[in-house]
Amino acid sequence: MTADSRMKPSFPASIAADCSIMNDDIFLPGPARQIERLGPLLVYCLFSAGRTVRIHDVNNRAAQAALAKLGQTLDECARLEGRVAIASVSDVLLINDVRIIVDSQSMGPLLYLIDEMKKRKVEEIDFGPDVTLPELGSFLKLFFLEPAEEDVFGEVNRRLSEAGIVNIRLTEWIEREKFLRDAKEERREIREESNKVMSRAVMFMGEVLRSIEQRRPIQLPKAHRLTQQMADIIQTDETILVGLSSIKDYDEYTFSHSVNVSVLSMLISDRMGLHKNDTAQIGVAALLHDIGKTHIPQSILNKPARLNTDEWSLMKRHSMLGAIELSRVRSLRAVVDPIFVSLQHHLLYNGSGYPVKPGAWELHPYTHIIVIADIYDAMTTPRIYRERTLTPDRVLRYILHKSGEMFDPLVVKVFIKTMGLYPVGTVVELDTGERAVVLRQNDRTSFLHRPVVSLLREDGSHSEPIDLAAPADGGTSCRRSIAGSVQDADCEARKARCFVMK
Ligand SMILES: [Fe+2]
Ligand SMILES: [Fe+2]
Repeated sequence: MTADSRMKPSFPASIAADCSIMNDDIFLPGPARQIERLGPLLVYCLFSAGRTVRIHDVNNRAAQAALAKLGQTLDECARLEGRVAIASVSDVLLINDVRIIVDSQSMGPLLYLIDEMKKRKVEEIDFGPDVTLPELGSFLKLFFLEPAEEDVFGEVNRRLSEAGIVNIRLTEWIEREKFLRDAKEERREIREESNKVMSRAVMFMGEVLRSIEQRRPIQLPKAHRLTQQMADIIQTDETILVGLSSIKDYDEYTFSHSVNVSVLSMLISDRMGLHKNDTAQIGVAALLHDIGKTHIPQSILNKPARLNTDEWSLMKRHSMLGAIELSRVRSLRAVVDPIFVSLQHHLLYNGSGYPVKPGAWELHPYTHIIVIADIYDAMTTPRIYRERTLTPDRVLRYILHKSGEMFDPLVVKVFIKTMGLYPVGTVVELDTGERAVVLRQNDRTSFLHRPVVSLLREDGSHSEPIDLAAPADGGTSCRRSIAGSVQDADCEARKARCFVMK
């Protein structure tokens, strides 16, 4: 499958007509966001106040006037959008993820801000709703001080926290290409980066939920930036990301499930040879696939028993509700992949599943990938209504068994080959009686049954990586072999320590 061969099935009108909550205006183009109009003014006010407090004391009359104007514009933006986040990404300035376009006269202030953020390795400045004028003044004074020679971002952050600035938060900009070239030699950096991106993705899903509750637009470019970072990691060394996705967060199930499905879908896409941009796009679609569940009551989502007929039919509507929710996102109307994935992610290769419509569904190519990642993560995660889960290798066997029936055979083949016999994160029992966790696959295909593991000790610690294919004491036979995978809740915390940053 190549990017060019993507099918773009049309939105099924019969389904749209079926849905009682759908109304006509949802699919009409929305008005331009006010932030597009206010953005250039905010850029100018920030530039002007920053320059003024750089030269004068914050109590100077000119500085106070500039700060008041900035405060007023921030308030106006916050009133319209609920938040104000200014990001500099690839020499483009975004406010609340809307690209700010200025005329040639205002180009100077815009480029100045981009440059100053870059010098301090700041990707985003988030102004909270409770920011005060004195706080704004101190922030500008400290932010525009000469950048430090080393740890430039850390230094700015330190200055701000020492000054007690809590309502303005900075996000670090990461120089991707350079970072990952260095990281090839330094696994610790990959580990750190994987942990960071996973927790940012879980936090992002929380923001998405809040945006939907408050009827605010979903910050889609942020999702793209996250999945592009994940795609970079996957192309370098995905093992920590996959390991982290194997740690099941029961309390934050919907968030962590979406992030896990995103990681696994992107891994499949990368191994299928899709372009990095497509892989990142699949990641976004996977992050948002279950977004319709935000409209399903918690009492149904977390019911500790089988759903009755009415509850089940409501639950089944989450895929349609998700497609409707995503159709409200203006920037998605041109790139509709996530809408199709949300709508179709419970439809199977043989046409079974839901939602049901007259005639056959034409499944979006991304759906074939995300369906497998979705089922794999769901079946390996304990839930309140399902006491026993299957070990990862058993779920793989199930997926293989259903290849060509429930799942696209090509995608199954790639998935099984990528995950190996014992996927990263599987807890196994060795023939020595020891418990271990799979850290990564063996490079040689003939040793797929002998991955690299870490022993999980009773005292909660774990051993250095052990290659199960390495012969013992200069001989030819291996010292330990896998007896089988195990489902052991006690091992979960010890296993997590192998992947989570200390
Ligand atoms: Fe779902
Ligand atoms: Fe799901």
